[in-house]
Amino acid sequence: MSRRQAMNFPPLAIAPSILAADHAHLGGEAARAKKAGADLLHVDIMDGHFVPNLTFGPSIVAALRRVTDLYLDVHLMLDNPATFVEPFAQAGADNITFHAEVVEQPGDLIHRIHELGCDAGITVNPDRPVELIEPVAGEVELILIMSVQAGFGGQEFIPETLGKVRAARRWVRGGRPRIEIDGGINGGTASLAVEAGADVLVAGTAVFRSPDYAAAIRKLRAAGVP
Ligand code: DX5
Ligand code: ZN
Repeated sequence: MSRRQAMNFPPLAIAPSILAADHAHLGGEAARAKKAGADLLHVDIMDGHFVPNLTFGPSIVAALRRVTDLYLDVHLMLDNPATFVEPFAQAGADNITFHAEVVEQPGDLIHRIHELGCDAGITVNPDRPVELIEPVAGEVELILIMSVQAGFGGQEFIPETLGKVRAARRWVRGGRPRIEIDGGINGGTASLAVEAGADVLVAGTAVFRSPDYAAAIRKLRAAGVP
């Protein structure tokens, strides 16, 4: 799988989050998501410290890498992301996103992620200012706007975070970085997010808890049709 390709996605890209998938059948779930039209696979990594929940480690990313060629969009919800960028890159992550609120020198970490051959993403929780991202907006492939507090799937979309999407959209030059939104995205909130300027939609519950993944993805994609 080649790296550094965040810019090659369709104008509106859909990233199902495997947090909401059947964890006993992750390979099958990734295959079903791909067949249903997913552009990326969003993988939520939680450490039980930065967020009060635990999820996957590098071995799960490596296992997914062996069975899917979907772009693996790895979202680190960790106190110490710098410690883990290398293991996740080696595991086969295509993108590594970290939280700016726990990193003193985000530029250095972005550089390190690029050296490891991955796209780099940066995010902040809804209660932290998006301006933490602005100084490095030109250096990343992805700005992730959290539309729920990081930690759990299935939460309700926070509409106030749309202002951050609009702010981030102003930093985009020549289509770079992509603006991704994560949390509470469904057929309804997707339109609001796209209107505000998001062009990558993460959706866990809306895809993996739906009886028909392809229909769910089509519904999200429809948000991008004027
Ligand atoms: C929350 C995660 C999200 C989560 C989204 O901390 O970052 O990626 O999987 O789940 P839904 O789409 O159910 O809100
Ligand atoms: Zn996420």
